[in-house]
Amino acid sequence: MDSALSTLYREHVDARSAAAARALSATGFDRLLVHSGKPFTYFADDNDAPFRSTPHFAHWTPLEGPGHLLDVVPGRRPRVFRLVPRDFWYEPPRPAPSFVTDLFDVTDVATPEEAWKAAAASHGGRTAFLGEAAEEAEANGIPRDAVNPPRLVARLDWDRACKTPYEVACLLEANAVASRGFAAAQTTFLAGGTELEAHHAFLAATGVMEEALPYPTIIGFDERSATLHYHGKRGHEAAPGRGMLVDAGVSVRGYGCDITRTFTSPRTDPTFRALVVGMDALQRRLADELRPERPYLEVHLVAHRLIGELLRETGILKVGVDEALASGLTRPFFPHGLGHFLGIQVHDVGGRQERPDGGTKAPPAEHPFLRTTRTLEEGMVITNEPGLYFIPMLLEPVREGAGRDAIDWRLVDRLTPFGGIRIEDDVVVGREGNQNLTRPHVP
Ligand code: GLY
Ligand code: MN
Repeated sequence: MDSALSTLYREHVDARSAAAARALSATGFDRLLVHSGKPFTYFADDNDAPFRSTPHFAHWTPLEGPGHLLDVVPGRRPRVFRLVPRDFWYEPPRPAPSFVTDLFDVTDVATPEEAWKAAAASHGGRTAFLGEAAEEAEANGIPRDAVNPPRLVARLDWDRACKTPYEVACLLEANAVASRGFAAAQTTFLAGGTELEAHHAFLAATGVMEEALPYPTIIGFDERSATLHYHGKRGHEAAPGRGMLVDAGVSVRGYGCDITRTFTSPRTDPTFRALVVGMDALQRRLADELRPERPYLEVHLVAHRLIGELLRETGILKVGVDEALASGLTRPFFPHGLGHFLGIQVHDVGGRQERPDGGTKAPPAEHPFLRTTRTLEEGMVITNEPGLYFIPMLLEPVREGAGRDAIDWRLVDRLTPFGGIRIEDDVVVGREGNQNLTRPHVP
């Protein structure tokens, strides 16, 4: 890590310390113990699922592996009791890097019991525990109501939405790495490769193991691109595709990007190609709508209007945009939400939180999949991912209902085999303009 990034990391840890101190004092605790997680073993098996750190732990440090305890007491240098089992079957976690040991007292221990013993040694105050290992915590003297206390968790989740410059740097780096994967997947597709080959090209070009991806790649040719989270990877029976949607990202120090592009080819229907070009233009316009103090729902509704205009321009909608919006006719074409918070989790926490201390603000009933109902603030990182799909399951009720004359069904039927379109960038909301983390790397 270069010195500029180490400085950003130091400031990030300082920000975590200040946020933890505020949250602890507001909720009646004076110490935070954060567990890095437990391995998940498949039922009746001796194999574990790929491990993911507890997000509260990952927010402080990218140290890998389960069983570590992070010990935070306001005013004191944070400590980590790092589980490094003496094991010759599995590789132990790599040593703690210097940018971590510069800021944390890191003590390696060989067993979870040793970690608890060391952590418990020096504290007589009221400890809050965060993590999945609730039984371990209670067995080690943490009262049940201090294990993942909801009011404390809410405060920490609320804060996670705004990223520090260090977190933005991680996400920007992730976008840069992922861009190589997008170029490679596109080349594979245009050369007549399969969905599976495009996926392998993405992994090879980014140099990432599949299990280290922030989420499974979504790589769909043609009609499969209309399955929003399509995880199948077809072989030669589906190649060459006429169009391809890729939704994929990579993680850097625990922060994953989330990018989508829709690629066309000379085999794509010209109207579908025009829709992709129109979607790209409207997605860029939407990026400018993401402003501090703006309720995200408002921008989602602007997206519906712009998508309505695009449907109208291409002749899919036969009625005016106002009428289409009033009768909900854009919703079957754009069924998901415009975007979500992004960071340690691809759908990062706190998107529907009402207040710093909790509560839930649900989206309107007509927009059930909108993941973010917060008002935008400077420093939030959010995706901007409008889409337009031809999903028979959603369009059939319209075809058979009151809206049937408002849509050119012959055109819809011609475009349905091409599936769907989504274009997604990662955006940092700024007062003096937003920073698009994706476009500098992925055109
Ligand atoms: N990348 C998948 C999603 O945002 O839903
Ligand atoms: Mn997304």
